[in-house]
Amino acid sequence: MSDANRPSARDDLFASPLGNIPRFAFDQAVVDVFPDMIQRSVPGYQTIINLCGELAARFVQADSNCYDLGCSLGASSLAIRQQIQQPGVTIVAVDNSAAMLARCQTLLQSDQAATAVELVEADICDIEINNASLVVMNFTLQFIAIEKRQALLEKIYAGLNPGGCLVISEKLLFEPESLNQLLSELHHQFKSAQGYSDLEISQKRDSLENILIPETLETHINRIKACGFNSASPWFQCFNFASLVAVK
Ligand SMILES: C[S@@+](CC[C@H](N)C(=O)[O-])C[C@H]1O[C@@H](n2cnc3c(N)ncnc32)[C@H](O)[C@@H]1O
Repeated sequence: MSDANRPSARDDLFASPLGNIPRFAFDQAVVDVFPDMIQRSVPGYQTIINLCGELAARFVQADSNCYDLGCSLGASSLAIRQQIQQPGVTIVAVDNSAAMLARCQTLLQSDQAATAVELVEADICDIEINNASLVVMNFTLQFIAIEKRQALLEKIYAGLNPGGCLVISEKLLFEPESLNQLLSELHHQFKSAQGYSDLEISQKRDSLENILIPETLETHINRIKACGFNSASPWFQCFNFASLVAVK
């Protein structure tokens, strides 16, 4: 387990009654509890991060770039970095939260792996992607405005080398609504079992309303294929969270 995943201060940001619930933001308060928050909120998070390292071992090409889009504290970058044996590789880790990147920089300094990591503070919709053998977007597309998602994926497809791999991990929406309700309730149970109270779960849900916008698996797969990928498939799912892989 890398330092970016090590349990941090306990997430109690939504534990007390908040009155007016603030819009969720990846600010310093979230940075301070982020590893604890994401591991107790996203079922399968650690498995997905670890297995991104396995995908890196398989797909990363010498003298190419890997992109970690929405890198937060660099958990995916570090998992990837530890598995890269090829020379001449740069991991480009991008986030638009200065607070996240500042902590990420500190965590990277305590990692000894040889592959270069370049931190970029930018909107992932504005950056260039080129000479990529692996692009990882773990739990980030869901924060991008829906109308920008197709163009972002087309840019990623264009920047991937033949044989390059895209990983997208997301919270999912389900149809019909009864199935969505079931999987939401199972997720709620997961969070309760992780020690979150009903108040914390409901206040955080309200805070994320219209900020985290999930889509169905079918919507994701259709969008990925419309960019030119021949195939796309989930390789991991737990309740309403899944990770998809597509190869150019
Ligand atoms: C749930 S976190 C991602 C977690 C991280 N990938 C991991 O696996 O630990 C979402 C991240 O995406 C970043 N983000 C959201 N919208 C962004 C955008 N338009 N451009 C760049 N980063 C963005 C947030 O600042 C946040 O750090």
